[in-house]
Amino acid sequence: MAANSEADISEAQIAVHWKEEPLIDPPASFIAQANMKDKQIWDRFAEKNFPECYKEYADMLSWDQPWKTTLDTSKPPFWKWFVGGKINASYNCVDRHLAKYKNKAALIWVPEPEDEAIQTITYQELYKRVNEFALLLKEFAGLSKGDRITFHLPMIPELPISMLACARLGIIHNQVFGGFSAKACAERMEDSKSHVLVTVDGYYRNGQLIDKKKEADITVEEAKKLGIDVKKVLVWRRHPGKYVSQSPMVEGRDFFVDEVVKPFRGKTVAPVSMDSEDPLFLMYTSGSTGRPKGAQHRTGGYLAYVTGTSKYVQDIHPEDVYWCFADIGWITGHSYIVYGPLALAATSVMYEGVPLYPDAGRPWRIAERLGVNIFHTAPTTIRMLRKAGPDEPAKYNYHFKSMTTVGEPIEPETWRWYYNTVGKKDAAITDTWWQTENGGFLCSTLPALAPMKAGSAGPGVPGIYPIIYDENGVEVPAGQGKAGNICIRNPWPGIMQTIWGDPDRFVKVYYAKYNKNKDSKDWRDWPYFAGDGAVLALDGYFRILGRVDDVIKVAGHRLGTKELENAVLTTPQVAEAAAIAMLDELRGHVPVVYVALKPGIAPSKELEETIKANVVTALGPIARPKSVYIVPDLPKTRSGKIMRRVLASISDRKDYGDVTTLANPDIVETIRKQVQTG
Ligand code: PRX
Repeated sequence: MAANSEADISEAQIAVHWKEEPLIDPPASFIAQANMKDKQIWDRFAEKNFPECYKEYADMLSWDQPWKTTLDTSKPPFWKWFVGGKINASYNCVDRHLAKYKNKAALIWVPEPEDEAIQTITYQELYKRVNEFALLLKEFAGLSKGDRITFHLPMIPELPISMLACARLGIIHNQVFGGFSAKACAERMEDSKSHVLVTVDGYYRNGQLIDKKKEADITVEEAKKLGIDVKKVLVWRRHPGKYVSQSPMVEGRDFFVDEVVKPFRGKTVAPVSMDSEDPLFLMYTSGSTGRPKGAQHRTGGYLAYVTGTSKYVQDIHPEDVYWCFADIGWITGHSYIVYGPLALAATSVMYEGVPLYPDAGRPWRIAERLGVNIFHTAPTTIRMLRKAGPDEPAKYNYHFKSMTTVGEPIEPETWRWYYNTVGKKDAAITDTWWQTENGGFLCSTLPALAPMKAGSAGPGVPGIYPIIYDENGVEVPAGQGKAGNICIRNPWPGIMQTIWGDPDRFVKVYYAKYNKNKDSKDWRDWPYFAGDGAVLALDGYFRILGRVDDVIKVAGHRLGTKELENAVLTTPQVAEAAAIAMLDELRGHVPVVYVALKPGIAPSKELEETIKANVVTALGPIARPKSVYIVPDLPKTRSGKIMRRVLASISDRKDYGDVTTLANPDIVETIRKQVQTG
């Protein structure tokens, strides 16, 4: 829930959160085979060994040239990692596995239609496809190191292939989540200045064949309005040779990948040796202003961090069949479907569709059929599967050794179903807390070394030193049940380099709040402000409460209230808008919008629907408001600030507290009646 200050979190959020939960030990069978069962790890990654401890992660990779300086702090907070090192991410995720694992599955792709054959892509085949597409990017699209390219792709194997092809040449990929609208994609193309768009003709979602190429046409138009001339649209075909979109191909602009790749079939291109600090990709995410920010991730540090955490936290071995049921359009997919697992030569499963298609047994059938033994998903998916098929997992013969949850707080009830029913009481669970900006996990238990606690992520992972500060920068000690802002005291290799094109915003958003001295070159003076409220228990486990800024999490997806409000304001009849996150049994939170209309305009159901449609056009279907309330006025402070917190309390049917100091206190009761009795 978006709250306004640390004080709001302590009063409102802790009250609705849960009590301390008992500790549960991981199964002995899990511990016996775990990658990390040596308690010494805590000492190796202790502060006295920082930053050199991260050599342990970097050594999991194959470097073209060793680095000279592990951490360069000469320009805080623009940290540099493994400086002087040369490395290629595509080589590390593909080529280096050929000698030993050539014919092992790298990716297993499960199409949504259950009667369509599953596709297995071996490391050898991945190598071929990545090389061919890389050559196409180089020779046909004219792209080279440092150029940006935008993908608007769903969960098809061509997405990781495209990413790895870019990584091979140092082209900076920018994948826009498939559920974002064409317009949102165009804005990201503009911000990143990319002139090539990669899409697909269509894909399956919830039993429907979705026309994706149609969206690409709108993206090109919208990008043009923003001053970006999209030179090429590369269209993968879901069924090569068969075009399923209604949109005509534009001569000289749109090209079928399966046709233009022909001259490059079977050919290879050498991986470009990248500086450790060269950017690998951009991942746009929402913040508290209306403009999404491009988290810029580096090559060497990022890859080292996701590889190390995939190995120790997710416990991935090459012989595991690992299924992360997230979308690659989010950071979770980049780090823990593609780069981390593939760097470890694992078999990474991708599923095209939605959890409940055609029924609530689908994920468990996939797990059984493929022999998945590590499962990773978000609380929203778990809640959804629990509601629709609480007894389904028992019907299928699969065995998970470990399971991960990510993206939002998980309530103990949901956690227990995950543990008892999905994991059949025989899987270790890791609750991993982190963010797009972080590259990889920040808090989690190491599964073989520490017990699990429902609803708590756990301590900082090795090499991460979290701390909770109050609004004045005073540490909130453990065991007091008091919430504050969780920060990370130190830099780590997975942290983003900067916000693409906006270094000032990077400093302002993440470091200005708790920086002790802006001229200091000592990393200890630059705690990273995560924007989440948290409580620390005596045992050192952090419980994450939710965002303290104007960011909301809808079904685990991150949206800015300002972005939503800007989208609502594209409706000409709307004078003012406030977007809030309302509690939702399944999706954690859902967006709800309150609007005041311009004088003389009458409220109507049609107008509410128009507003919802405008949000979908601007941002995409994931942002569709659950309700739009047209109200006479919005509650405001005397200085004119809209009181979103009051509106959120009304939506959640909670006490909205004392509103007597507002400029227009009477409106609150009017709105409450309208919402709660209307
Ligand atoms: O509020 C926290 C929540 O998700 C936010 C980050 O969202 P995003 O950048 O989209 O990345 C999601 C996947 C890493 C955080 O600020 N969050 C993430 N993981 C957890 C969580 N909240 C509670 N528990 C978690 N395990």
